[in-house]
Amino acid sequence: MRVLGIETSCDECAASVVEDGRRILSNVVLTQIPFHAGYSGVVPEIASRKHTEWILDVARRAIADAGLSPQDIDAAAATAHPGLSGSLLVGHTFAKGFAWAQNIPFVSCDHLLAHLYASNLTGKDLPPSAIDTPYPFLGLLVSGGHTVICRVDNFDRVIPLGTTLDDAAGEGFDKVARYYGLGYPGGKYIDELAQSGNAGAFKFPLPNLDKTGRKYDVSYSGLKTAAVNQLRLFCVKNEYRDMLADGKIKPCDMSPQMKADIAASFQKTAVDILLRALLRAVEDTGINLVVTGGGVAANSHLRARLAAIPDLRCVFPPAALCGDNGAMVAGLAFRYLERGETSPFSSTISARVSLFKRLP
Ligand code: KG4
Ligand code: ZN
Repeated sequence: MRVLGIETSCDECAASVVEDGRRILSNVVLTQIPFHAGYSGVVPEIASRKHTEWILDVARRAIADAGLSPQDIDAAAATAHPGLSGSLLVGHTFAKGFAWAQNIPFVSCDHLLAHLYASNLTGKDLPPSAIDTPYPFLGLLVSGGHTVICRVDNFDRVIPLGTTLDDAAGEGFDKVARYYGLGYPGGKYIDELAQSGNAGAFKFPLPNLDKTGRKYDVSYSGLKTAAVNQLRLFCVKNEYRDMLADGKIKPCDMSPQMKADIAASFQKTAVDILLRALLRAVEDTGINLVVTGGGVAANSHLRARLAAIPDLRCVFPPAALCGDNGAMVAGLAFRYLERGETSPFSSTISARVSLFKRLP
């Protein structure tokens, strides 16, 4: 069965055709990054407009790249939640329209479940990933909008254990990179810069969440503030008076090595925060298989640290499938279709996190 998967929850306009929930026949991801970079963040209005302009061509290309025509597609699927409402609506409505026109089933998917499914996919130019990861496993979802540690009992059954109390992990990378002028979105730039940095050069604090009793939660706002304050200290030498006068950070004369040291130290602490919570979950649940997903799962330091933990098996999606893509949506949708489940054309989108929202 060939499923067309559409993903437009944020700033990637993506479509893919996946066969039998496994084999990627095509994967088109058109990024809007250049349109948002000037604002150092995604502008929802721009995002939904671009999706509207692009979605038809992106879907056409995905079908053509797979060597197929629309009549060869057996089902259509789209991300329904969570994400930016306007953006979600474009892809979701497009997929419903396509399914209706072709008279094929439609499946609405959760974006975070789709990220967790990404490591089940394979295809040309991709290293084999973890086909048939046995349940239960622990999911580590780390993206620009979400940070969740969960127990995964099936492709559609999760128990959230911990989340972030403030910023998502990727958001932390993006904000720190923005302050240091490293590029947007910041994760990949910090990752690259950190390769030549000394991770021990700066000591950033781990959040103290013990008193909240939330063992598996994480927090990134303290680390972000500490890293940004460090920039202020760098600037003190030259710009102290101005900075105090108008409250703005001025460009300062950090050496490239200093920037690399900041990147490496920040990245190490960001990963320490994740691993502390994750390892508590491993110990308490006795589950020692971890499947990662989301843009930050591409981080080289996170991968190296997880891979080095004895007695822990870690599965990472191929780097190309860590960020948002339509293949993970098409793959996940196949699992529902296999069970005979489809979504009605009356189903709609929601900006909110639902399945991964932990009860208070
Ligand atoms: O999953 P994703 O593409 O979109 C969301 O659903 O949010 O994740 C995007 C996030 C951004 O915050 C980006 O900076 C981060 O993933 N990211 C990384 C790396 N590559 C992308 N963070 C750390 N290291 C990376 N190599
Ligand atoms: Zn995502």
